[in-house]
Amino acid sequence: MNKDMADVLIHTSKGTPMGDLMRRYWVPVLCSNEIAQPDGPQVRVTILGEKLLAFRDTEGRVGVIDEFCSHRGVSLYFGRNEENGIRCAYHGLKFDRNGKCVEVPSSPQSCERMHIKSYPTVERGGVVWAYMGPADKQPAPPDLEWCGLPESHVFVTRRLQECNYLQAMEGGIDTAHVSYVHRYEVDTDPMHQGCKALDYIKADGNVVFNIEKMPFGLTLFGRRKGEPDSYYWRITQWLFPWFTLIPPFGHHSLAGHVWVPVDDHNCWAWSINFHPDKPLSEEEVAAMKAGKGIHVEYEPGDSMRPMANKDNDYLMDRVAQKEKRAYSGVFGFSAQDYSLQESMGAIQNHEAEQLLPTDKAIVMARRMLHEAAVGLTQGVEPPALDAAAQRVRSAGVLLPHAQDPLAWAQDKLTDCANHPVYSL
Ligand code: FES
Ligand SMILES: [Fe+2]
Repeated sequence: MNKDMADVLIHTSKGTPMGDLMRRYWVPVLCSNEIAQPDGPQVRVTILGEKLLAFRDTEGRVGVIDEFCSHRGVSLYFGRNEENGIRCAYHGLKFDRNGKCVEVPSSPQSCERMHIKSYPTVERGGVVWAYMGPADKQPAPPDLEWCGLPESHVFVTRRLQECNYLQAMEGGIDTAHVSYVHRYEVDTDPMHQGCKALDYIKADGNVVFNIEKMPFGLTLFGRRKGEPDSYYWRITQWLFPWFTLIPPFGHHSLAGHVWVPVDDHNCWAWSINFHPDKPLSEEEVAAMKAGKGIHVEYEPGDSMRPMANKDNDYLMDRVAQKEKRAYSGVFGFSAQDYSLQESMGAIQNHEAEQLLPTDKAIVMARRMLHEAAVGLTQGVEPPALDAAAQRVRSAGVLLPHAQDPLAWAQDKLTDCANHPVYSL
């Protein structure tokens, strides 16, 4: 990728083309359960280069506001969450969830000019979302399938990933890597093991990919040998600007990710598992809480940094690598991915990369993001803001040789709530 294109895609702070594009969509900020209690502890979170503070006020409403006090810049993380607002610990200025200054004890007449930044929020799918774009452009709330399900059906975590969002998200789009770095994990992981999909995946490593442009982003079709009269298709989607879905494994839950810039050198990797039609079982929830599947174990504290991180070489085990228990020696799906993505450097040198035919989906996604970001600077409205377009689902399915998978997906995987899950 040339430098001009990479510069557009990588930088996401306010006023950059990509930063402004991303601000036109609802942004996942933190899990609802991180601020479960009214008047409980507020949480610092950086999104798109902006340092923000999230809290739940006395009446249970969520606020996402500037982290810093308008008086002399103290972090409100050290303030008091009380009586429907955050009070700065230094001189007692108080701000409500809309960033409005409601009290200046030493100078009540100054309230009017002390307001701080705030963003509108919604809670969907166990996630607090903020809208950080122009007020008159606020779209309908996110409506991916997992956003509309009851709490019992969805499990969501976020973790810090120490690299640019683009190279992280491209791992979510790049289905070709699954046969390598995750090769041994699928057999033992409780969220993947024991299903027919694994037989087809292992029996045919020569996947034929077909990528289709859609109103919401891309649909990726991966074809393997199936039964004598059929192909086994793994079908998955990338949705503007940062959602990826994962093709399902047997009876296990459906899954997806969101890749949100913290700043240009870090991102929030969100991992979601869900059943459209039933609650997650106790065993599933226990496994995910223990960091299985696409989730992780964390370092102590509230950094959201995984236990396996670059400071300890991701707990790589050379013996396990040699014995073919872990392809790269790193355990855990997410750690296998982020270890390699972080190893590229915080911002991959895209000018030096030499792409291969299997990178076609990545190239298409880059072009679409670039076109949308540059388009917005010229007044072209961003794509996929219509919530209805987001109701798509991934699948793993046997289709007769003659069946056109695109037509099948258009019929069975859009408006997905009205269809069964297709998974083997
Ligand atoms: S710095 Fe916050 S009240 Fe003075
Ligand atoms: Fe992966």
